[in-house]
Amino acid sequence: MSNYDLKVCGGTVANAAETFQADVGIRDGRIVAIGKDIGGAKRVIDASGKLVLPGGIEAHCHIEQESSGGIMTSDDYYSGSVSAAFGGNTCFVPFAAQHRGQSLRKVLETYHGRAKPKSVIDYSFHLIISDPTDKVLHEELPEAIAQGITSFKVYMTYDKLIVDDSQMLDIFAVAKKHGALTMIHAENNAMIKWMSNKLVDSGHAAPKYHALSHPRSAESEAINRAIELAGFLDTPILIVHVSTEAGARIIAKARYQGHKVFGETCPQYMFLHADQMDLPDMHGAKFCCSPPLRDRASREEIWRCLQNGTFQVYSSDHAPYRFDETGKLHAGPRPDFRKIANGLPGIELRLPLLFSEGYMNGRITLNHFVALAAGNVSRIYGLDHRKGSITEGKDADIAIWDPGVTRIARAKDLHDNMEFTPYEGMEIRGWPTTVIRGGTVIVENNELKAKRGDGQFIARRTIDCTGMPGRLAPELDPTMNFGVDLGL
Ligand code: URP
Ligand code: ZN
Ligand code: ZN
Repeated sequence: MSNYDLKVCGGTVANAAETFQADVGIRDGRIVAIGKDIGGAKRVIDASGKLVLPGGIEAHCHIEQESSGGIMTSDDYYSGSVSAAFGGNTCFVPFAAQHRGQSLRKVLETYHGRAKPKSVIDYSFHLIISDPTDKVLHEELPEAIAQGITSFKVYMTYDKLIVDDSQMLDIFAVAKKHGALTMIHAENNAMIKWMSNKLVDSGHAAPKYHALSHPRSAESEAINRAIELAGFLDTPILIVHVSTEAGARIIAKARYQGHKVFGETCPQYMFLHADQMDLPDMHGAKFCCSPPLRDRASREEIWRCLQNGTFQVYSSDHAPYRFDETGKLHAGPRPDFRKIANGLPGIELRLPLLFSEGYMNGRITLNHFVALAAGNVSRIYGLDHRKGSITEGKDADIAIWDPGVTRIARAKDLHDNMEFTPYEGMEIRGWPTTVIRGGTVIVENNELKAKRGDGQFIARRTIDCTGMPGRLAPELDPTMNFGVDLGL
């Protein structure tokens, strides 16, 4: 008799806090049984010798998104989601970017229209807020949060995206009131512009000078400021793509002091280094992203901060721009570094890189791998009612990893719409060989089994601050009762 639509049997199941041998029974897209002798199924997948892990959740990627300079990423919701699926992900949360003058309603309508017919994995969006007008703050943002878009990103740099301190406070106040999380691109704009202009004016315009133009202290200054501004209102924030240990330490110390602050880093700061921006014939442009790659020693520091839990989130920051006039070289064949499209691809290799160098090489445990792959972001971004662990009642989103597979990273084998990978030639041990989304096999035997548009929009929950510490001495302590109601 068939109790289930699908059963994954004989594997080692791991969540963020447990590892055990069990079969997993799936019905109507959900996990309905976990254990031994759970009964028959219409289809059985033998996972003997393999690891049965929650499907990865990619929480920072730029898909079918126009940059503020008007350049479209090379991946749309089809190629981006297919590439994510082959990398062991069953859900992603790309950005829906507001450019100045645009209404959030229209932006969300546009991105829903892009994702729905194409995505093969489940999805949500983070909004990018670049124009926090009264209407945006008091009508459109609360409306978006009510629709399950419970996080948004703000930029402390980039001329066309930057919000000033007072606008950040306005956005934090809305986030606090409605239970949303603000993600922050923390780099000091003035320091970057000042250094960039000095470098170019003195004839230092090659890609490698991009690294010098974004000093480490630009990151530290902005992280400090963001934390103080958010701490003033005691509202949670997440500092994205942290590239320096100094930045990570500021986050760790602030957490100790009771700030509600999370940290994210990315594979480029753990596997790549700034010398790669010095390749001849502009090929260094392939490695330009912001914050920039740092030196080799920094990679070890970032690894340490991942190991010790300073970073709860590990994302690809997949921002795919091809090495041609549609992307990296949109401003001409030899642009100065200020005009090179910023960003690296990495959505497919994010998890295999971490599995190989992190878990297989003994830098992190299997459970820590799962926490970074899916568990932590499911909680932080309000997806844990559906995703993030292999638990009865949750979506049957599963990646079966084979630790016995070794591959060499090659751009030609990847499924994104890029012609290069910055990780070319790296040896990767372990691979997600079967990927299941909502009880349906979407990747198997190196083939895509999913259809365009199979992925569903997931409404995310508001941010639950229960259990998060508060400021030791909040500035706006309600118990002080000055009798002032700021409507916060
Ligand atoms: O260089 C990067 N990271 N480009 C993508 C945009 C961003 O700031 O995340
Ligand atoms: Zn950013
Ligand atoms: Zn990004």
